[in-house]
Amino acid sequence: MQATRPSFDERAKDWDEDPKKIWRSQLTADAILKAVKPSPDTTAFEFGCGTGLLSFAMKDAYAKITLTDTSDGMLDVLRRKISAAGASHMSAMRLDLTTDPLPAERYGIAYSVVTLHHIPDTDGALHRLHDLLQPGGTLCIADLDKEDGSFHGPEEIVHHGFDRQILKGQVEAAGFVDVRFETILEITKKIDGKDRPYPVFLMTAKKAVQS
Ligand SMILES: C[S@@+](CC[C@H](N)C(=O)[O-])C[C@H]1O[C@@H](n2cnc3c(N)ncnc32)[C@H](O)[C@@H]1O
Repeated sequence: MQATRPSFDERAKDWDEDPKKIWRSQLTADAILKAVKPSPDTTAFEFGCGTGLLSFAMKDAYAKITLTDTSDGMLDVLRRKISAAGASHMSAMRLDLTTDPLPAERYGIAYSVVTLHHIPDTDGALHRLHDLLQPGGTLCIADLDKEDGSFHGPEEIVHHGFDRQILKGQVEAAGFVDVRFETILEITKKIDGKDRPYPVFLMTAKKAVQS
């Protein structure tokens, strides 16, 4: 029988020791900043932030960054990093994107990397992200293209990546316009002794100025 994967709480303390996680966050940050030029007053919202690798890679780009996650272990590591960096414009918040009350603030950009596939209710998450954005704001989601389930293995209940056309329809149904995809990186894993590439897309979508 296959061992159950440790929880995100358990994995939090070693999360930043993995150079591949730092690399994928840096490439995602570069792609987001290229796709959506921030202005000095842009405020940002990250969901499923983990230890904050993605937001830290863009920390000087935004006026204010709210980082959210459901894992207290991840949030503990993140709070220590924010404090050590003296990054008073960054704040950590425990928030389940699909079930918790949303903050009252509205943001210029919302983003994440490899988190959406961990959230069962994709449509609910997309509608709430639409609510969280200011008119004209941008959603940026980096995640796995559709895969056969080998990325996590059978013991973890997650979406097996996303079909771009189906996700586009869901994003438009949540109220977004101008939905675009590009491939930004490949995560390689050893599966049955062989290197296997898993492409990762960046999807950008706009909340209409009048919606
Ligand atoms: C694969 S990790 C990615 C973390 C981070 N984005 C990174 O790349 O280092 C997925 C994260 O999503 C969080 N998560 C899962 N479901 C969530 C939800 N419903 N709302 C907010 N965060 C969630 C988990 O706790 C975990 O930290």
